[in-house]
Amino acid sequence: MDEAPGASLVNALASTRQGNDTIFGWYARYLAAKEEGHDAVNGTAGILLENDGTLAINQVVDRMLREAPALEFSSYAPLKGLPDFLDLSISLALGQHRDALQSMGFGFVSTASPGGSGALFLAANNLCERGDAILLRDRHWGPYAGFLKGCGLEMATWPLLPETEGDYPYFADEAFEASVEQLAQSQNTVMVWLNDPAHNPTGLTMTAEGRRAALDIMMASASKYPDVGHTLLLDTAYSLYANEPHGWGQTIVDAMEDGTPWPENFLITYALSLSKSHTAYGLRTGALIGIHPDQSVTERLRDIFGTTGRQTWSAAPRILQYTAAQLHGNEESAEEWSQERERLQGLLTERRDMFVNACQEYGVPINPTHDGFFAWLEHDDPESITEACAEHHVYLVPLRGGIRIGLCAMPSDAVERVAKTLATVLS
Ligand SMILES: Cc1ncc(COP(=O)(O)O)c(C=O)c1O
Repeated sequence: MDEAPGASLVNALASTRQGNDTIFGWYARYLAAKEEGHDAVNGTAGILLENDGTLAINQVVDRMLREAPALEFSSYAPLKGLPDFLDLSISLALGQHRDALQSMGFGFVSTASPGGSGALFLAANNLCERGDAILLRDRHWGPYAGFLKGCGLEMATWPLLPETEGDYPYFADEAFEASVEQLAQSQNTVMVWLNDPAHNPTGLTMTAEGRRAALDIMMASASKYPDVGHTLLLDTAYSLYANEPHGWGQTIVDAMEDGTPWPENFLITYALSLSKSHTAYGLRTGALIGIHPDQSVTERLRDIFGTTGRQTWSAAPRILQYTAAQLHGNEESAEEWSQERERLQGLLTERRDMFVNACQEYGVPINPTHDGFFAWLEHDDPESITEACAEHHVYLVPLRGGIRIGLCAMPSDAVERVAKTLATVLS
């Protein structure tokens, strides 16, 4: 009777699925403290909150959703997505660089998915051989591990930051190159997941030079190992709140203009999410976009991704596909959305600047942080720090290797207190 309840009812994979999500657990502790009347600070949630603690909602998205015809709520979307949304998704991923790539003859494939998570699933399920390891930075969004495991994949990591100051400030190029080489020698596929810009959980954004070095390393490896498929997946869940939202598009165009040959066995994909950029977390809308110079490759992928969606979740939800296409297809509403997006980015920038300055003042050794929802403090015993912070009613999230500081969730006037509390508990 020592076995877990229902042990004989579930398979081996299911038996590894356990535990409450750490982030939601700490969010619950914040709520409980608030309920008890404490002046508690919420640095836990991964959603953008206004300074009064309410959910930030891009009002033009909300308005246009409510104006949408009933049919757009009720009906299925086409299995691969609404064509206007698929077209929009490519522009959201590549920005102004789309035209340049298009004129170079690149093919694009986009498949609608339930959020960025669905896009990550499509990639994990199709672009890597079972048993192969996917290469991630050692600090990454926790659910990646579950996506990989569920698809029978392993995980390999390289360090988020270089150990010593190298050629690229926020890119451990030597470790990355060595990891890619090792995987290319031992596997049928090499896939890298890179959450950039505005990395969760640190807020790090790579530089143009770092991006180019990463791309060059992957393309060189694909050329060296022509029988090994190489995919670079860019997880851009937070990119539309970054200073340079389409930096990767620029990097790809630069590489092409420099005459870098694109190996046939190399693919770039974007996992696009509208959850944050359109403040529509619950509407589960995103897309997996693939870029390749050979359009017969992108056509084949269109079929594969569409069929995978069909066999997993059927079609992705329709309403935000429709509304986003309408919104961005009209100059006035697109501009309105853009202004609101800018205001929300301003909130994040204000909080980040205040936090970085306060950490400097109080001597809190936070990681480099540039864009997006979070900041990060490396620590060997993160629980001890978040527990000590909780005694001051500052609630942060302990993750493997450090503490995630949810700038997105805390009011600007609490930011200095968070830095001060960290300084106190660290000393
Ligand atoms: C790094 C990262 N990637 C992808 C996602 C996927 O978001 P969604 O499935 O809500 O679009 C998230 C959401 O928190 C994230 O933090």
